[in-house]
Amino acid sequence: MNTPLLKNYRRDITILAAALAAVLNFTQCTPKQSAAVSSVPNTTPHEDPNKGLKDYFKNDFKIGVAVSMNSIRQDSALIIREFNSLTPENDMKVGVLHPAENTWKWENADAIVAFAQRHHIAIRGHNLLWHTQDAKWMYTGPDGKPASKELLLQRLRDHIHTVVGRYKGKIYAWDVVNEAVQDGEDSTVIYRQNSPWWKIFQSPEFIEAAFRYAHEADPAAKLYYNDYSSENVTKHRKIYKLVKSLKDHGVPINGVGFQAHWKINSPTQDALRTALKEITSLGLEVQFTELDIDIRVPSALTPNATALVAGAQAAAPVDPGYTPELEALQIAQYKKMFDVMQEYKKHIKAVTFWNVTDKSSWLDGRGQGGGAATATAGRIPRKAYPLLFDVNGQRKKAYWAVVNTVDEK
Ligand code: XIL
Repeated sequence: MNTPLLKNYRRDITILAAALAAVLNFTQCTPKQSAAVSSVPNTTPHEDPNKGLKDYFKNDFKIGVAVSMNSIRQDSALIIREFNSLTPENDMKVGVLHPAENTWKWENADAIVAFAQRHHIAIRGHNLLWHTQDAKWMYTGPDGKPASKELLLQRLRDHIHTVVGRYKGKIYAWDVVNEAVQDGEDSTVIYRQNSPWWKIFQSPEFIEAAFRYAHEADPAAKLYYNDYSSENVTKHRKIYKLVKSLKDHGVPINGVGFQAHWKINSPTQDALRTALKEITSLGLEVQFTELDIDIRVPSALTPNATALVAGAQAAAPVDPGYTPELEALQIAQYKKMFDVMQEYKKHIKAVTFWNVTDKSSWLDGRGQGGGAATATAGRIPRKAYPLLFDVNGQRKKAYWAVVNTVDEK
């Protein structure tokens, strides 16, 4: 479809891509030869097919990936070759693992842990408290009324002790609390108001309790607060306040997880630097816990979104696919972000990608602005191509751009 908006967008992107070409000439998107190798003629090629991200980054931080049993079945060789940290994508979430008071679904979680152990891959746990994929039964008391704070704390403690205890010594880091900060520009509202936890507590007491219970259950595990849009300045200030207050209260927290669901046009390097500087100034470590870089750009690529919102009959949305222009922007953004990570590598313990290859990303089912993709509300199903391996599991150019950020000194 050639709407004026899309034409403009294509023109803009062509200009941008031309500008980028200059930058990218300096970004080698193929394996880098070490000085030693290139000075010796006729040596074997620099690309070692058995080497993975984990090897390139071995002096910097762990490189992880979120998995399901399906992705392990499909991509086990790639996972074993490339990664040294695994996060269960869904199988340790509270509602998935513990759907009713006396029902536990350990099968997938146990199988993922066993797979990781068999292949000497570290495991991070995700998560122990969230307002989504949660255990709804916890919020209601035996009398059918909202559970009291005491009952909810008791259930939280039982849950955390059971899960963290079961994997004690096997899981090196836990996302203890996920996404408890409120979005939006009002900097006075720090805590997520629509969380069932907040509704019952009206205070961050449940957040502190979750960390204390996790620490009781496995004193050696690193405990993280995990959230998205952590580089947005307003959101970042709130996350900072939350974790600072935990530190001030002597709550056992070791680090902050930046989910890093990024776009090809955001965040900027400076936004990421500012956020990292402030969090690390509290003596906390950092992990990038759910990294992907979506190639979908809002509005400009959804010319008929307005019509869809209005419920009008509109032509099918255009899916531009993984065009060279979008690929160039994605490569540049990956490079920018990993360059900043190199600056802060002393504080960064792991960088985890959210899903394995572009064949299947959780973003594919989602539209702009989040939520399930449907033909309404401007949420147009479109592939996101957000990872370092293409739909066939092959390394993308972005892979080499990332590898080439490694400081070999
Ligand atoms: C996502 C999973 O990838 C999807 O399979 C699931 O349907 C919804 O949750 N932030 C988080 C992750 O902390 O747990 C989410 O994972 C993505 C956003």
